[in-house]
Amino acid sequence: MPKNKLFNLKKIPPYNYIWVKENPISYITEGFQKFLANLEYVNVDQKYKVLQVTSSLTGEGKSTFFSNVAYLLSQKGHKVILVDLDLRKPKIHRIYDIENKNGITDILTERSTLENSIKKNKKLGFDVLNSGEKTNAVVNLLESKKMKNLIEKLKTIYDYVLIDSPPVINVSDALYISKLSDAIIFVIAQKQVKKAVIKEAVSLLKLNNINVLGVAMNKVDLKNNRYGYGYGYGYGYEYQSE
Ligand SMILES: Nc1ncnc2c1ncn2[C@@H]1O[C@H](COP(=O)(O)OP(=O)(O)O)[C@@H](O)[C@H]1O
Ligand SMILES: [Mg+2]
Repeated sequence: MPKNKLFNLKKIPPYNYIWVKENPISYITEGFQKFLANLEYVNVDQKYKVLQVTSSLTGEGKSTFFSNVAYLLSQKGHKVILVDLDLRKPKIHRIYDIENKNGITDILTERSTLENSIKKNKKLGFDVLNSGEKTNAVVNLLESKKMKNLIEKLKTIYDYVLIDSPPVINVSDALYISKLSDAIIFVIAQKQVKKAVIKEAVSLLKLNNINVLGVAMNKVDLKNNRYGYGYGYGYGYEYQSE
């Protein structure tokens, strides 16, 4: 899948500001649309239903990226849920501007039901499953049969289950989550992360036989964009295909 370059925002917006919704006609949104077109192209057989986003390090823009993707996919008529499996640094509830209550950890510990936990918002169009109450037993939960069943259930309801996950380096959560997902989108914050770190993350993924479907370059320096058009997406091919 071609690699997409995204954007670098001048002001840091809050999580409930979905760029592509507020700026439907912009180069950035165009970059996202290009990403979706590529996604639908490689996914013509609808093989990839559960998509996971990860990156090398924290703060590269995973949650922001997937909230924009979720919005655009739902605009295209797909039934989409954004699931927060970054149980250590959850952000997805902030997209909806809600407290992180009645979420995944609550479902798995039977304090809540799936029906009571799915949040809907007509303006955004996609549903959300927030992470829920913090837990120390992150790996146990990620590896549990209940978690697997929960994702299976979501697959029967939605066209796309988008899973936000932690970065690859330092914690192994993303690797466990990859067992629940069909494919991974790897976000790289350009200029924020050293090449050696990205290489380390990629080799960790390879070592675990993880299928990286596509790479999204985020926080792209528009001024010094080597493509010279002053906007945020480019071409090139992924470093690893299935
Ligand atoms: N393309 C971008 N340009 C500028 N800032 C961004 C961009 N994408 C994300 N951010 C900001 O970077 C910070 C980290 O983003 P976030 O999505 O939480 O990263 P992650 O989920 O990878 O930890 C947030 O403050 C977010 O608003
Ligand atoms: Mg995040």
